[in-house]
Amino acid sequence: MRIDIVSGLPKLLSSPLNNSIINRAKKSKKVLIRIHNLRKHAHDRHRTIDDTPYGGGAGMILKPEPVFECIENLQKRRKYDEIIYLTADGERFNQKIANELSLQKNLILLCGHYKGIDDRIRQKLITREISIGDYVLTGGELAALVVVDAVVRLVPGVVGDSESLLSDSFQDGLLDAPYYTKPLEYKGLKVPEVLLSGDHKKIEKWRQEQRLKKTRERRPDLLTQEYK
Ligand code: ADE
Repeated sequence: MRIDIVSGLPKLLSSPLNNSIINRAKKSKKVLIRIHNLRKHAHDRHRTIDDTPYGGGAGMILKPEPVFECIENLQKRRKYDEIIYLTADGERFNQKIANELSLQKNLILLCGHYKGIDDRIRQKLITREISIGDYVLTGGELAALVVVDAVVRLVPGVVGDSESLLSDSFQDGLLDAPYYTKPLEYKGLKVPEVLLSGDHKKIEKWRQEQRLKKTRERRPDLLTQEYK
């Protein structure tokens, strides 16, 4: 899988992308991530990528020309499955969308900045708009990192143990069970007996009960008919 991230603030992206699972994914060659600096596609003396909005109002708008030039250059080299714009008014990101995106071959993520982007970019280039939640960020970079992290860990071979992915919270509509590791007793709290029993059937049953209990308590909205 290849992900091209287009941004006016590439420095915000580089450190998180060079650490942890994402970095492992890159090293394993299962995922290729490229960051593109929009300023390289601004051709005036000041390398301007934003301007004031027609009709007035506060804030600066990302200009169309640098974005079109950058994305059209990419499109000359390969076909993209989706060109995604990160924006607070997009479709709300969730595990289902992460699963879908993890099956794609080539993705572009466009990070907006300032007050927004020239709408012609949305009309002509963008195929999908994603929000990571109902709050406004200063730009799309942190949102792009959230999407990349959630998607890349699902690419086959990136997370060592694919069983661990299947039991993730949300993966089958339930939150995950509690987990314990050594020591057996810590600050007066003991590991539940059942986990020491060696009886895998019993352990699985306990985990499923815990998942249901936690989902009922915390996120009853997630429960489908079969669990009610
Ligand atoms: N840009 C600004 N706010 C955002 C949000 N909530 N999700 C995605 N991109 C954004």
